[in-house]
Amino acid sequence: MSDVRRRRWGRLVALGITLAVLVPLGYLWATSLVPGEYNPAEMGYADYGGGPSSGHEHHGGMSVVDLAGPRNGTPDVDVTLVARKQKFQLASGETVDGYTLNGASPGPLIRARVGDLVQVTLVNESVPDGATLHWHGIDVPNAEDGVAGVTQDAVPVGGKHVYRFTAEEGGTYWYHSHQVSSDEVKGGLFGPIVIAPKTPGEVVAAIHTYDGKRTINGRTGSASVELPAGTTARVRVINTDNAILRVGLIGAPSKVVAVDGRDVHGPTAGTAAVALAAGGRVDLEAVVPAGGLRLLAGTPSLSLAIGPSDAAPTGDLPGETVDLLTYGTPAPIGFDPSEADRTFEYRIGRRPGFLDGVPGLWWTINGHLFPDVPMFMVAEGDVVRMTITNTSGQAHPMHLHGHHAVVLSRNGIAATGSSWWVDTLEVGNDESYEIAFVADNPGLWMDHCHNLPHAAEGLMTHLMYQGVSTPYRVGGDAHNEPE
Ligand code: C2O
Ligand code: CU
Repeated sequence: MSDVRRRRWGRLVALGITLAVLVPLGYLWATSLVPGEYNPAEMGYADYGGGPSSGHEHHGGMSVVDLAGPRNGTPDVDVTLVARKQKFQLASGETVDGYTLNGASPGPLIRARVGDLVQVTLVNESVPDGATLHWHGIDVPNAEDGVAGVTQDAVPVGGKHVYRFTAEEGGTYWYHSHQVSSDEVKGGLFGPIVIAPKTPGEVVAAIHTYDGKRTINGRTGSASVELPAGTTARVRVINTDNAILRVGLIGAPSKVVAVDGRDVHGPTAGTAAVALAAGGRVDLEAVVPAGGLRLLAGTPSLSLAIGPSDAAPTGDLPGETVDLLTYGTPAPIGFDPSEADRTFEYRIGRRPGFLDGVPGLWWTINGHLFPDVPMFMVAEGDVVRMTITNTSGQAHPMHLHGHHAVVLSRNGIAATGSSWWVDTLEVGNDESYEIAFVADNPGLWMDHCHNLPHAAEGLMTHLMYQGVSTPYRVGGDAHNEPE
């Protein structure tokens, strides 16, 4: 070969190599682009979990719009929440630039009793991206679930939306925006909701971090709640942050009496702390001693003294952590998980690729990057088993909307304590959990990580009932952006 030919050949080879790299990369880039508007019911690919791909669906299909709460009847609880973007002061005085409901964050405590018809009107006065309210942990009818682009359009500035549902299961819950939630929840667009009559010993403690300042009920440092010695305190702790947090009572032995709005069966009193997943709730119970109690959130520097005004113990959280896999005593769960109609895997990983055209190291579900993720398809009445495994290098608090699931096992070890019902389950790196639930609430339901930036990074899919459709679109004219 002459020099000239060799050089030309060399250039061709180089070009070939470049194309061999660029063409597939370009393909990956192009196929990762999320359309400006898409139907969340047609996202990804259907995973039938070994069940039929058609069959006992509602005849002719059903729209989420029709899966609404009671339309008639006078509400027992009637609340209006006005959402604003504004600078506001925490209860402890610091200024935060974020979001409020009725002028404060957290928003007001909504209280209902089992059986009540709850009506909440959300008015968006000035949240520029729009807002919604999602009832985290309350298994409401689908149309009331408050997910922008899935069950409604985001409420624009000047707009309003009415939510109506019957309070069916007593417990500790919270509400938050599900429009641009990674920004709006962090900025304060949330509040507590308790379905139970108020008892003399009730204390609600919503934990949230504003601009790096962790608070209990919007207060940094230490606050106090006066309760006479001898009262049975029930402390409803809500983790509204993006990361797991150890919480606990010191001053007397305490019991974990409820998790994620479901009572624990046969709880025993002890002195261990609880690791509370992001989005999760735990109800702690203790009899107030003469020396008082103290709720600690993460560190002794953030606490709530509970007891007689002049007394409160000091100290750190105990080193031990309650293991809900073995805590309490078994109770019937009401269905047989060994007779599952569908069995799903929700495998969380991480790999390099493009997410909506942006290169990065992104979360994967069953090896797929968002939006090409599995949609878990079910039919009403199915018994569903799901194994969630995580090899992504980070922990993920996994939240399924509209359902409570019971934990069957962790890392292959069967649960032996109280039936452990969850709506938000922390799945640590290299952990696996097997859960089961009954598909008893038709709709199109989010199933995502509640470290909300992770959901925005694609750790998000849906549980979908066959035959259910939605008129709403993610993106589009309403600028719906649930994560
Ligand atoms: Cu607390 Cu999908 O939400
Ligand atoms: Cu996550």
